[in-house]
Amino acid sequence: MGAPSGATPDAPRHLPVMLADVLDALQPKAHETYIDGTFGAGGYTRAILEAANCRVVAFDRDPTAIAAGSELVRTFEPRLSLVHRPFGRMAEAMHDAGLMHVDGVVLDIGVSSMQLDEAERGFSFQSDGPLDMRMACEGPSAADVLNSFSEEQIADIIYEYGEERRSRAIARAVVKARTEAPLRRTRELADLVLRVFHGRKEDGRHPATRTFQALRIFVNDELGELERGLRAAEKILKPGGRLVVVTFHSLEDRIVKQFLAERAGKVDHGSRHLPQKNLQFTPPDC
Ligand SMILES: C[S@@+](CC[C@H](N)C(=O)[O-])C[C@H]1O[C@@H](n2cnc3c(N)ncnc32)[C@H](O)[C@@H]1O
Repeated sequence: MGAPSGATPDAPRHLPVMLADVLDALQPKAHETYIDGTFGAGGYTRAILEAANCRVVAFDRDPTAIAAGSELVRTFEPRLSLVHRPFGRMAEAMHDAGLMHVDGVVLDIGVSSMQLDEAERGFSFQSDGPLDMRMACEGPSAADVLNSFSEEQIADIIYEYGEERRSRAIARAVVKARTEAPLRRTRELADLVLRVFHGRKEDGRHPATRTFQALRIFVNDELGELERGLRAAEKILKPGGRLVVVTFHSLEDRIVKQFLAERAGKVDHGSRHLPQKNLQFTPPDC
């Protein structure tokens, strides 16, 4: 998602990224049905509904995104429906609603500007907030992971999902810090990582960027959801239907390319292009 726009009440609050490319790939047509698996601020959904007299069923796992979309539902009545479910379950949700097939699916993977901008959601270290990071506002939070997982598990998460070279040193510092008091705030974690890097930034980026990304991906099982979402889309797309996926992260990109190459019969299972591990740990009691 791009920078905040000068939004009016009836316009999207954030500029959707790559919108022209998405519309070009999806090619919305009248009387067809599309799924927007990542509704967010509704930028893609609105553009699809404006491009053709079609229908959109939009999913988001974040209850605040769904609540904020009610005005858009009224604007496009009866062509837009919002569903508060993860996109990994879109096929069963559509079947429950009696819609067996759709003409296109779009997924804009990642976190929204609204989520990043809201300090209380804990996704960002730019402003202090609780170490939460749960898109769906349920299940174990980032603080639960940091305060109850073993040092090795924390290091693995930061290494695999953040591609962070200093993952072991960061995990060691986390475990040392929590013996004094549990980690609770985004600023505490950002400062801890900065100390591991002796206060140095790399390429102008805060060194905690990769650690925050890793925790967010793990807490929300984002790679598992992406795999489930691709399989669900395959189930409900009509022959000739279109799948459009926007990713910015190399691990997600690999999953999408691998999936498409497999379906095109070009790659064996177990390719070296797959992520090395999809970490599964028993969630802590919380
Ligand atoms: C990058 S934003 C999408 C922005 C949107 N394209 C727009 O134009 O406003 C990603 C959104 O997808 C949601 N999301 C992420 N993973 C999801 C999942 N597995 N199922 C449903 N929603 C998800 C997030 O809560 C967030 O609101």
